[in-house]
Amino acid sequence: MKIEKPGRRSLLARVSALFGVAVLSRAGHAALKQTPGAAEGPFYPAPTMRYPDIDNDLVKVEGVVKESGGEIVTLKGVVSNKHGAVLSGARVEIWQCDINGKYLHTGDSQNLPHDPAFQGYGHDITNLQGEYSFRTIKPAEYPGRTRHIHVKVLNGEQELLTTQFYVEGEPNNRKDGIYRRLSGSEAEAVSMRFVENNGTTEAVVNIVV
Ligand SMILES: [Fe+2]
Repeated sequence: MKIEKPGRRSLLARVSALFGVAVLSRAGHAALKQTPGAAEGPFYPAPTMRYPDIDNDLVKVEGVVKESGGEIVTLKGVVSNKHGAVLSGARVEIWQCDINGKYLHTGDSQNLPHDPAFQGYGHDITNLQGEYSFRTIKPAEYPGRTRHIHVKVLNGEQELLTTQFYVEGEPNNRKDGIYRRLSGSEAEAVSMRFVENNGTTEAVVNIVV
């Protein structure tokens, strides 16, 4: 993974503006707040549990004709370090239950039908601008939790972050034991604000590792 350092100050200003979470370190240099981590949970799919198709389009499984159930959305953002330098070549992984609330995991024993058209897990590699993007579904209802998407960021084998993203404004967030551990600004950093953009529903969540 390469850390791009062109025009550090302007980049930092740009990323800070996007995040709105710039803080001043004791040395007086602006730094970004790291994205808060969260438990991996029991359903991170081991490689053997995944489809052969592990791309960044979770609503289309290769070889399956129909698209998955659920509201199709784009989740995207920029991965940077806390100094605002974007990280290219980072691996961003997401996993989430399908529209029925079923995870792509052999340990999910809920008696729920599995949506064979939902990939359940996917990954993207950040480009030179540090950008990642997924086509997926708005997270579904899941018993005992608020709606969420699991996220991991890796540099090769090295895990940089494991966290969960939430739907901004979802009333059940307030009742969720994991969400409630977050401060207001931490919650904001892992919240997906879905907006309409050229016929696509998308959320931008920038990640600081
Ligand atoms: Fe989960």
